[in-house]
Amino acid sequence: MSRWLLTGGAGYIGSHVARDLLTSGREVVVLDDLSSGIRERVPGDAELVVASVLDTEAVRRALEGVTGVVHLAAKKAVGESVEMPLMYYRENVGGVTSLLQAMDDVGTPCMVYSSSAAVYGEPPWSPISEDSPLAPLSPYGETKVIGEWMVRDVAAARELSWVALRYFNVAGAGSPDLGDPSVNNLIPMVFRALDQGEAPQIFGTDYPTPDGSCIRDYIHVSDLSAAHVAAADLVERELVGVALNVGTGVGSSVAEVMDAVSSVVGRDVGAVAVGRRAGDPPELVAQVERAQEMLGWSAQRGLADMVESAYAARR
Ligand SMILES: NC(=O)c1ccc[n+]([C@@H]2O[C@H](COP(=O)([O-])OP(=O)(O)OC[C@H]3O[C@@H](n4cnc5c(N)ncnc54)[C@H](O)[C@@H]3O)[C@@H](O)[C@H]2O)c1
Repeated sequence: MSRWLLTGGAGYIGSHVARDLLTSGREVVVLDDLSSGIRERVPGDAELVVASVLDTEAVRRALEGVTGVVHLAAKKAVGESVEMPLMYYRENVGGVTSLLQAMDDVGTPCMVYSSSAAVYGEPPWSPISEDSPLAPLSPYGETKVIGEWMVRDVAAARELSWVALRYFNVAGAGSPDLGDPSVNNLIPMVFRALDQGEAPQIFGTDYPTPDGSCIRDYIHVSDLSAAHVAAADLVERELVGVALNVGTGVGSSVAEVMDAVSSVVGRDVGAVAVGRRAGDPPELVAQVERAQEMLGWSAQRGLADMVESAYAARR
């Protein structure tokens, strides 16, 4: 049985990954500073270390006997990163620096790194392959690119097997107690508007897409979590270094998401069209063949599952 360190394991995605790593037969140590994570979400079978990844000494101690690290701990709000770039550089880039230093000190051989489709910025084509240019549009996206490069560079200097997973639009919940508590993404934003008795907004209806609204690749958090276990299996099995898109390969427009929410709540949500937001590309859909080939993984759940489970988990 191998032992894995999961940073950010008390968060939205991490609480799913913690459960799936345990189910895969691994021991799990969660390291989380609980800045946005919730202690109760860490499964009882996992060990919890409350510390920041910036605390290299605490990470070094937590790495004792550990084969690999799944690194999720980070700040993730794009708009906030524009307002507070230094905080994002300190937390996200500083976090990877500290973690890689500790891993180097103790010789941890495997890593799965949480990256994002934000590394692509506004891509000139879609679906987008991993070989497309990296051109992030925000400090948040920049910190994810820098993190990927740091992992790659350390791996080139010593034996480290790694996979960076570039998540597309994560949604849904694996169970009603594990919903997304933040309101950065579309589906939680729609439910919050409905809870407040407001009409959800569609930002831009004049994009060059069939219904005029933006198209994104929504991936169920349980499918995303399963990709982490497949990536952990891969880096344990062989020496690799690769970035992989994690999406469904299927795009849904904002208007289609509104329709899906309407059918789940049983009434027309009455979405209203407002102007475009700066920096929203018309379409961002993943090419997923590389992840399917390398991980033997593919997404199983569709938009209806995501909206239904997010609704059931709504606070
Ligand atoms: N949710 C998405 O749509 C999405 C999309 C792409 C990438 N990501 C990435 O996935 C990862 C997890 O995101 P999430 O949605 O679960 O967010 P989240 O905020 O729910 O989880 C992040 C977790 O990391 C912890 N954390 C933050 N800074 C820390 C630090 N310095 N030391 C220790 N712990 C720290 C938080 O307490 C929290 O438990 C992040 O790296 C994020 O950038 C998320």
